[in-house]
Amino acid sequence: MRVIIVKDDDAGAQLASAAIIRRFQRQPKSVLGLATGSSPLGIYQRLIAAYENGEVSFADAWAFQLDEYIGLDANHPQLYRNVIDELLAKHVDFQPGRVHAPDGLARDLASAGPAYDELIEAAGGVDVQILGIGTDGHIAFNEPGASFAAGTHVEALTEQTRTDNARFFDGDITQVPTHALTQGLGTIMRARQLIMVANGEGKAEAIAQLVEGPVSVSWPATIMQHHPHAAVIVDEAAASKLQRQDFYRHAWENRLDFQEL
Ligand code: GLP
Repeated sequence: MRVIIVKDDDAGAQLASAAIIRRFQRQPKSVLGLATGSSPLGIYQRLIAAYENGEVSFADAWAFQLDEYIGLDANHPQLYRNVIDELLAKHVDFQPGRVHAPDGLARDLASAGPAYDELIEAAGGVDVQILGIGTDGHIAFNEPGASFAAGTHVEALTEQTRTDNARFFDGDITQVPTHALTQGLGTIMRARQLIMVANGEGKAEAIAQLVEGPVSVSWPATIMQHHPHAAVIVDEAAASKLQRQDFYRHAWENRLDFQEL
């Protein structure tokens, strides 16, 4: 796993978006994995700018979101499908029907998970997956104690995650859904490349566990240590609890020409 410490979230977004843009320039038919939360915002802004400048197109691409709340109305602004539409999809040239999210509105939630995994497989699997991380080490909505092998499934959200996400619901935790339909860690690990961005001191413990802790479902993101092509891009505050910061800086500054994200 490559660990890259950048000076701020802007620099992180620059690095991550450049890698994604390169990928779509070389292979326009690629499949992009999308995350919600505030961490990827800068990436999406840069992807939109690159599209507007004619540097990249998503006309041949597919996209799959990581997760979706259960219990929100179809037009709720915090339904992740609507969030991604606002932040990215409607501003670029994805073909209609090519940006998917787990169906949190499904009547049959038990079969909605496996159906979503099949859809991802049918598109050829995710090539580049953008990830954020929760303060408790969750990725997508795989909370501590999650299965490393699970496919897309229903997860109950922890009090911590609902408290963290209350800022998107007028600060009112009672408005935050209690459940979500989320890609499982097994699904996420099948993506060919993972790019995580994390900023701020609130993420420092989760990042220290993810990069240097033992692989454990107590910190679900630690499964990324087993991924063959993963990058963790963190600002100095999020990196502050890492023991080997000097080495990560040294390795990135002295990377060879062919070494990209
Ligand atoms: C939510 C999302 C995750 C995201 C996390 C962190 O719980 N389901 O995919 O990584 O929030 O969000 P933020 O980037 O806003 O800190």
